[in-house]
Amino acid sequence: MKDLLKIFEINCEKYYTLFKSNEPFILDRKNVELPIKQLISHFEIKNKHVLSIGAGRGHEEYWFYKSGCDLTFIDTDEFNIAPLLEEQLSAEKNLTDPMLTYIIEDAHKVIEKLENIYDLCYFSSFVPDEVYREDIQKEYEGQYQNTNLLLRIIRYGLFKLHITGRGRGRTWPNYKKPFSDLVMKITKNTLKDGGLFILQSYYAGIPIERNPHVVSLVKKQLSRVGISLLHIYYFKENSGVNLTIGYKGKKNATREFFRRISKNVKITRFHGRAVNPSEIVKAYQFKM
Ligand SMILES: C[S@@+](CC[C@H](N)C(=O)[O-])C[C@H]1O[C@@H](n2cnc3c(N)ncnc32)[C@H](O)[C@@H]1O
Repeated sequence: MKDLLKIFEINCEKYYTLFKSNEPFILDRKNVELPIKQLISHFEIKNKHVLSIGAGRGHEEYWFYKSGCDLTFIDTDEFNIAPLLEEQLSAEKNLTDPMLTYIIEDAHKVIEKLENIYDLCYFSSFVPDEVYREDIQKEYEGQYQNTNLLLRIIRYGLFKLHITGRGRGRTWPNYKKPFSDLVMKITKNTLKDGGLFILQSYYAGIPIERNPHVVSLVKKQLSRVGISLLHIYYFKENSGVNLTIGYKGKKNATREFFRRISKNVKITRFHGRAVNPSEIVKAYQFKM
């Protein structure tokens, strides 16, 4: 990686001891254990190279590490982790087997500089992207409500969806891609063939119940970078909390992978930090 401002290479076990004194954060790690272990078992994420974009403290990612994965994190350092890393590294110069590369930088500035490829591109509650989504939803709702019926039909082509039950109160335009360019560029540049794309929206994802058309938008957007959509799940109580999983590869390889994993442990939970975890609904499943 060239010209990056701050890159830390640290032994994973050491990294995760940096937060020991801070009880609530450790609780976070415990709370996400079951959902992340389900992801690991279902999608066979063992001994892989994982890139987490917006990793924060990396509590979910801890469980990937525990299943033998090495980790690369990118984060703007909202949680002020850099000083802890500096302190640890200056205290112990010869750390063996780092397993964690932590890039402290805005992901926008890192895209072109990443040189490795990964088995998993992991985005979890990548907050600015979700704000962007929120903005689009608000703007679109406002525009829609201020437009008369005829214009709505001409401009948005939503007639059918708005008068039938599902999709009533739609908030996402059918001309907007669901994922930001940042998400797609990083994935395109770094996900290897046979790799997984996982994106969780914890609070302001697109509400799928009101926007069922988004499933086909997601499918289309992912297919542009060679990814087949495998699953979309959402919270029954709030379909804006959702989880998307895709596989990069040719059709046959995707079918083979999907067939193999379908006998594995099922996904029944995600978003382990939710105050009220909800039953989950499957909005999409890959068709063989
Ligand atoms: C909810 S946290 C991720 C939590 C993490 N997966 C865990 O389990 O601990 C979202 C993170 O995205 C980071 N982030 C937001 N925008 C970013 C950007 N443009 N580049 C890099 N990181 C960013 C924030 O600093 C924050 O730490």
